[in-house]
Amino acid sequence: MIIKRFSSVDELYAQAVATIVEAKQNGATTFGLATGGTMEPLYAKICKTDIDFSDCTSFNLDEYVGLEATHEQSYAYYMNKHLFHQKPFQASYLPNGLAADPLEEAARYEALLQQHSLDFQLLGIGQNGHIGFNEPGTPFDSLTHLVTLEESTRQANARFFSSIDEVPTHAYTMGIQSIMRAKCILLIAVGETKRDVLQRVLALDYTEDVPASALSKHPNVIILTDLQEEENKL
Ligand code: F6R
Repeated sequence: MIIKRFSSVDELYAQAVATIVEAKQNGATTFGLATGGTMEPLYAKICKTDIDFSDCTSFNLDEYVGLEATHEQSYAYYMNKHLFHQKPFQASYLPNGLAADPLEEAARYEALLQQHSLDFQLLGIGQNGHIGFNEPGTPFDSLTHLVTLEESTRQANARFFSSIDEVPTHAYTMGIQSIMRAKCILLIAVGETKRDVLQRVLALDYTEDVPASALSKHPNVIILTDLQEEENKL
């Protein structure tokens, strides 16, 4: 794992854009994408560049169950709003939040992913170490699946909804194995709330209790953070 620390968040996102541009120049055409607060400044910066994804395919990590693509909190809506409206891909895939049969939908999405191998995967990280919606305890060999969201994750995401009751209880997520198949992974961890979990990931503490710790076995992971190293901490 390569870790790069930045004293300015702006420089961090500039580096993230540069990493994506470089991956594309080196031939990456299939991108795994994430949502969440961490990705918003990144997508805003990407939209200001002349990068062209019209020959590329994207796969999102996850989607809430029960939200239609036009719902403002669905990840389909998020992606259109923050990226796709200005930077369209040749094809963009997300799990269908309204699929009638959730298990079939998870299998369909995983099959699609396996048809197109991911060249590049973008990741944020949850305070409990989740990547995608793979909560602590998710097996490292998991494929795309349906998850029951942890209360802490629902609480963390409640800021995007008018009340906690509106936060869905279930979601689809690529599994840890689906993510680990990507050739290159870029993880962005911004802000003090991510300090403790990043410390565990960097300690190479390989445990299913911290889903992101799976990344320590991946040959090509870059972590960008604004968290500075502190004695006895990071
Ligand atoms: C979202 C996703 C999540 C987020 C994580 C961090 O597609 O996969 O794992 O990356 O919850 O969210 P923020 O960036 O809001 O702190």
